[in-house]
Amino acid sequence: MDSDVAALKKLVDESSNIVFFGGAGVSTESGIADFRSVDGLYNQEWKYPPETILSHTFFERNPEEYFRFHRKKLVVDGAKPNKAHLRLAELEQEGKLRAVITQNIDGLHQAAGSKKVLELHGSILRAYCSRCGKPYDADKMNHGTGLPRCDCGAVIRPDIVLYEEPLDDAVLTEAIQLIRAADVLIVGGTSLNVYPAAGLINYYTGNKLVLVNLSETPYDSYADLIIHKKIGEVFSQI
Ligand code: APR
Repeated sequence: MDSDVAALKKLVDESSNIVFFGGAGVSTESGIADFRSVDGLYNQEWKYPPETILSHTFFERNPEEYFRFHRKKLVVDGAKPNKAHLRLAELEQEGKLRAVITQNIDGLHQAAGSKKVLELHGSILRAYCSRCGKPYDADKMNHGTGLPRCDCGAVIRPDIVLYEEPLDDAVLTEAIQLIRAADVLIVGGTSLNVYPAAGLINYYTGNKLVLVNLSETPYDSYADLIIHKKIGEVFSQI
């Protein structure tokens, strides 16, 4: 076992108050593209930049084009939890991990068995009416054609945080509390580019900040341990 992974294993073995904060890089080993890697979503050719498509204004003005992108790129049928998701769920069951805080909207942490999952950017497995708020089964929205409509006539939308939209206050507050109180904070599979999510790392007050990410991040210099390796492989060894 490499020394950096061994160091992480030691931190995990010795702690019962670990918090994990992750992003799209946690799901790439499940076949879901991330956003900013070379082959990521934001580097693929689309009529509009994906960051534009995934915005509140675009959703309001071009719902048809939004749902074309949503059904083609956000919905990944058959994606299964990978070793990172599964090990995180185990660490929670072992009483070592307090919570997973994720920017992902794919529901794979819950599918792996994690119970305490804070979804900062929501989930495509939930949907609601954009006007009256009535909740809907997301399957129809994710796998249908055309515009999904509520009984009230308005468009049904995914329960995700689009650009220009605020994060859920309660989720953000709880995430900050968990990170503040954490003994070990493991940040994985995220470029730490998008705020306010990326700013959560600043609330950590301990001296066991671990970054597990294939590429460099703006927070590498703050980390107590950096592992530039595939997170599924790393987590299968700790
Ligand atoms: N193991 C470790 N790291 C990985 C792996 C892997 N198997 N695969 C990818 N990565 C790393 C990449 O190097 C990259 O730095 O994960 C990071 C993913 O970064 P992004 O693609 O920017 O995804 P993320 O940080 O989650 O984006 C944040 O941006 O568009 C918004 O709402 C969207 O939640 C998303 C947010």
